[in-house]
Amino acid sequence: MTEVTLFFREFTRTRRATGAIAPSSPRLARALTRYVIPSPGGPRAVLEVGPGSGAVTRHVVESLGPLDTLDLVEANPRFAALLAETYAGDRRVRVLTGLVQDQELGSYDTVVCGLPFANFDAATTEEILGRLVGALRAGGTLSYFAYAGMPPLRRVFSAGAGRVRVRQLDAVVGRVLARHRFRSETVLGNLPPARVHHLAPAAPAVAPVAVGAGV
Ligand SMILES: C[S@@+](CC[C@H](N)C(=O)[O-])C[C@H]1O[C@@H](n2cnc3c(N)ncnc32)[C@H](O)[C@@H]1O
Repeated sequence: MTEVTLFFREFTRTRRATGAIAPSSPRLARALTRYVIPSPGGPRAVLEVGPGSGAVTRHVVESLGPLDTLDLVEANPRFAALLAETYAGDRRVRVLTGLVQDQELGSYDTVVCGLPFANFDAATTEEILGRLVGALRAGGTLSYFAYAGMPPLRRVFSAGAGRVRVRQLDAVVGRVLARHRFRSETVLGNLPPARVHHLAPAAPAVAPVAVGAGV
């Protein structure tokens, strides 16, 4: 079975959790992995959440150094089994099967996230984004994507409880982006086009120094 066929089969099986009909394109994968860069300063720890069939993972693995590590957290056991088989010979890669909310995360230099937040409720999204930003080391980055143009469309076409969910979700995502985003980019070469957001831990607020206070 090809990767595209497996992905589509899982989409029909678990539509909300899979969140896309096809794996990310190479262009989207490159944008998502823009900050997975080798470090001369020492080994790097990378986390990918929601790797699916591994379309983004292979770009991450290409840029890993010999001592770097990659944790893959995938909720769908069929995708997780495929990833475990693909990277069975690579000691740098560890596959954790289950929801990211249920994992004990380490601390990471780079987090790449493929989760379909548009299908989640606001509380789950807030919890996950909070944990991912919280797992970043100083100077670390989190990159994730959403399909371009979807938020306004969802607002127009949702009704009742669905509209409430969309409003709450947009508010949560808006707050996280306002606090942590340092760059966003549009990737047209994906079906559908996507918007990639790059985040970093916010600098701690500096307490004002009282005038005349001794040092
Ligand atoms: C949109 S697909 C992205 C797949 C891949 N990263 C890509 O870009 O082609 C979302 C993936 O997230 C996984 N997923 C959904 N909810 C999850 C959760 N709470 N924890 C871990 N993985 C989750 C799904 O099983 C699916 O493989």
